[in-house]
Amino acid sequence: MTSDRRSFVRQGALLGGGLGLLRAAGAGADTTRNATLDTIHELHSTHGNFTERPVPEDVLQAILQASVRAASASNMQSYSIVAVRDPALVQKVCTYAAPRMLLYCVDYNRTQATADHLGLPYHADSVVDFVTGAVNTTLAAQTAVIAARALGVDSLLTNGIHRGDMERVWKLLELPETGCFPLIAVVLGYATEPPRERKGRLSGPGVIHDGKYHRLTREELDALVRQHDDPGTHLALNDAWRQEWRKHYFEWFFGTWQARAAKPTTSETQMLRLLKRAGFVETPRT
Ligand SMILES: Cc1cc2nc3c(=O)[nH]c(=O)nc-3n(C[C@H](O)[C@H](O)[C@H](O)COP(=O)(O)O)c2cc1C
Repeated sequence: MTSDRRSFVRQGALLGGGLGLLRAAGAGADTTRNATLDTIHELHSTHGNFTERPVPEDVLQAILQASVRAASASNMQSYSIVAVRDPALVQKVCTYAAPRMLLYCVDYNRTQATADHLGLPYHADSVVDFVTGAVNTTLAAQTAVIAARALGVDSLLTNGIHRGDMERVWKLLELPETGCFPLIAVVLGYATEPPRERKGRLSGPGVIHDGKYHRLTREELDALVRQHDDPGTHLALNDAWRQEWRKHYFEWFFGTWQARAAKPTTSETQMLRLLKRAGFVETPRT
């Protein structure tokens, strides 16, 4: 039996078990909740501190095998996942201290090599390829986060790989310069302490649009600001805005946290330069 078949059977058994439980609960049971949804609602990031306890190899492998089950365009899995088990290297690559890290890269090198191997023409050299690859890669990363939670492993999705000199990521992990772009890191381990609270989420106007797009009214925008100021919603990243005596959370968010976004981008960013180097920004031919 292949490992795919085994996990299919296991999932079938779990699903069957879940349905059995719902049935046993009888009429009136909440059919919109089950173990899978509970795991999703329990998701939370570990900001900062992981213990040194390593993630057991079989657990890491289970997370990886779940991760690659995510859907991908044409089932081509246009990504590579670099599993890093050296905590010192984890920190150099993503800036966070943790025992394990999965680096998710948009990557067409395997596909390109396959086409070359067969002498077939193939070019993954456009923004379309990057966006498609980024969707595939992100779905795989989020699936790893869900699998980790289900197995009791804490995680942090981080774009720390894009801070500072981004080229270090290519150098440290020997990534191909072309056709490969590090998109997101999933840091894995065991948190030193449980999260203080579960972060809130917006799920109303402006996020979920019924039938067609709805632009927020002034009243709805006021409500949004109030929701973020309300400590009970846990929508704010932290309490820094109160310590800075700001009137609203968003005054800190836009004024301090995202201050660099106060001005439009006018020159080429490091990211655009490296996207071009990777070959994902098409150059119109004359
Ligand atoms: C693309 C992306 C990048 C992120 N980068 C960081 C990061 O560098 N550092 C960090 O502490 N959290 C990071 N996060 C985690 C978010 O801050 C976190 O998901 C959000 O505050 C909601 O909290 P929760 O995941 O605990 O519900 C990132 C999340 C995403 C999706």
